[in-house]
Amino acid sequence: MPNDRKILVTSALPYANGSIHIGHLVEYIQTDIYVRYQRLRGRVCYYLCADDTHGTPIMLKAQAEGISPEQLIARVAAEHLRDFTDFGISFDRFGSTHSDENRVLSEHFYGRLKAGGHIAVRAIEQAFDPVKRLFLPDRFIRGECPRCHAADQYGDSCEACGATYAPTDLINPVSALSGATPVTRSSEHYFFKLGDFADNLKAFTAGDALSREAGHKLAEWLNEGLTDWDISRDAPYFGFEIPGAPGKYFYVWLDAPVGYIATFWQLRARLEDRALAIDDVRAQWSQYEIHHFIGKDILNFHGLFWPAMLEAADFTRPKTIHVHGFLTVNGKKMSKSRGTFITARRYLDTLPAEYLRYYFAAKLNNGIEDIDLNLDDFRARINADLVGKLVNIASRSAQLLAKHLDNTLGEILPDAPLYTEFLKAGETVEACYEACEYSRAVKTIMDLADRANRYVDEARPWEIARAPERGAELQAICTQTLNLFCVLIAYLKPILPQTAARVETWLGGPELDFESIKTPRLSCTIKPYTHLMRRIESTDLAPLIDNTEGADPAPRAPSTPPAGQPAAPAAEAAAGVISAEDFARIDLRVARVVAADFVEGADKLLKLSLDLNEGRTRTVFAGIRHAYTPADLVGRLVVCVANLKPRKMRFGVSEGMVLAASDSDGLVVLEPGEGARPGMTIR
Ligand code: MSP
Ligand code: ZN
Repeated sequence: MPNDRKILVTSALPYANGSIHIGHLVEYIQTDIYVRYQRLRGRVCYYLCADDTHGTPIMLKAQAEGISPEQLIARVAAEHLRDFTDFGISFDRFGSTHSDENRVLSEHFYGRLKAGGHIAVRAIEQAFDPVKRLFLPDRFIRGECPRCHAADQYGDSCEACGATYAPTDLINPVSALSGATPVTRSSEHYFFKLGDFADNLKAFTAGDALSREAGHKLAEWLNEGLTDWDISRDAPYFGFEIPGAPGKYFYVWLDAPVGYIATFWQLRARLEDRALAIDDVRAQWSQYEIHHFIGKDILNFHGLFWPAMLEAADFTRPKTIHVHGFLTVNGKKMSKSRGTFITARRYLDTLPAEYLRYYFAAKLNNGIEDIDLNLDDFRARINADLVGKLVNIASRSAQLLAKHLDNTLGEILPDAPLYTEFLKAGETVEACYEACEYSRAVKTIMDLADRANRYVDEARPWEIARAPERGAELQAICTQTLNLFCVLIAYLKPILPQTAARVETWLGGPELDFESIKTPRLSCTIKPYTHLMRRIESTDLAPLIDNTEGADPAPRAPSTPPAGQPAAPAAEAAAGVISAEDFARIDLRVARVVAADFVEGADKLLKLSLDLNEGRTRTVFAGIRHAYTPADLVGRLVVCVANLKPRKMRFGVSEGMVLAASDSDGLVVLEPGEGARPGMTIR
């Protein structure tokens, strides 16, 4: 494969109305490993993503919170970026579909579709909420299932019997927003005539952009015949208004994939440090191999609608669409009520990000079957592979090197053929990364780790260390072992970038990659060894499962934007900047903890009774049990958010929030200084 490849890689754009969870992370981790591998091979490889910000759910969520959609998406973007950064996801640009570039490009795409005669306009009838005064997406209509008569089912499908139907088939339908009975209303909609591209799409989906499995699925849809795709929505809608069609907006799925190119536009403008026109963007876009990574649920959008749009607007189509399956936890769909809806943040508060990166890599191949996170298997796998096999190789020889050899490596490798064997395996590892067959890459690397451990077992360095005159022999063995370890770490670097960085700091010398390992490290002095990874104990896993649905998490400090993203004004909003007036609305007061208790059935919570000098005590549930016992807190002064809307939780009503500082290593409840008294206002 030529090494002058220029590669553009995308992950699907996460919706801006919710938190990143570990299901999403299957995709972002899968993509990031691919990207890091390509960069490690010296290729130009840019990783682009953005928040998908438009649509009714986001508009309604902002309304419910009493903020503007712009405020909501700025807050969520900051949260998403923080989560991604902490998982080591190495975007070159993380944008937003609510950007100027995306508006211009979406209008351009639409203009091309229209000029090509691919847009049809006709009136359709839809459910309308007469109270909220908006057209209702199917998901916002509930009623009795026409087939099994289960109550309170969605407008498009029944969760009880699996039937799918039109919202008009529901018995006694109501709007989930207002409870009113929807009325049927007619309005004009804009359609993209996908059928115009049928032959073209048949060729595309039969080509090598898709795995055979995914291509098959698409062929099924194609054979059923392509119906026109409704690309407009009526006001009120949060999105881009359609040019020449007042009150009509682009459906979110029209401008979302365009967001890939809009984000590329922003990246190019930054790299070239100049303003670009659409034709510059089109020309640049055609210079790259384009790889989209997506989940199987959005295959039709990427395998049919998007290639048709690209064709119509004369933009290069993706070289490859990589499709993955869905994550299950302990064999079941992630679920809030089972506590297995694990957010990225909850995971990060519990365990190192790289454990999950490794586990997903060990399970991922290029197919679309679902992958399961079984928590017991996860623990066993990390302990066996990473701690038991991999780190063990380093720690065994590191101890001997420190104790007997002044941390200095010898001049030769005593078993050069073994080292060559390790280098040779690199070809397999590379091919696996390139083909997104990570599970095979991991298996190959772990087989090598077994081989390295066997080398140490057979060489018996701990015995040799007992005979001072055999120092040279001991040094040779440790040198061989550490060099084998370096090869393993270089191969694992796309999966474990932070660990690789720690090893690089420890050993000094050139950065580890597929090329640099060809020259072994000899005759050099390394730094003292510090532990690389710890085991997962069974008690570590409990906090992953959430028994405290609706608990107030400890508040977090806003973080800085990730590398490569200057804090420009847009980024400022994205980093959660608020005005002094916004801040002044928060009523912070000194409170004394007069009682503290465990909460039965909620192992993250403590129930606190707080005295704010207001003639009664307040109850606050705080998610701090992993850091404090009740006895630690009684009598102490804390800072309480006093004007927080009371929140009904499973265990009672929480009437405020206690401030705490936290990072991945722990949490401390903030304490006002000397002289503070309950009831004092904090300014
Ligand atoms: N906004 C759209 C994508 C627009 S791309 C132009 C969307 N967003 S999403 O937030 O729902 O999902 C983002 C990606 O995460 C999708 O590729 C989706 O398949 C993937 N996943 C979401 N939940 C998942 C699991 N439980 N398991 C694996 N992947 C999952 O779709
Ligand atoms: Zn049913």
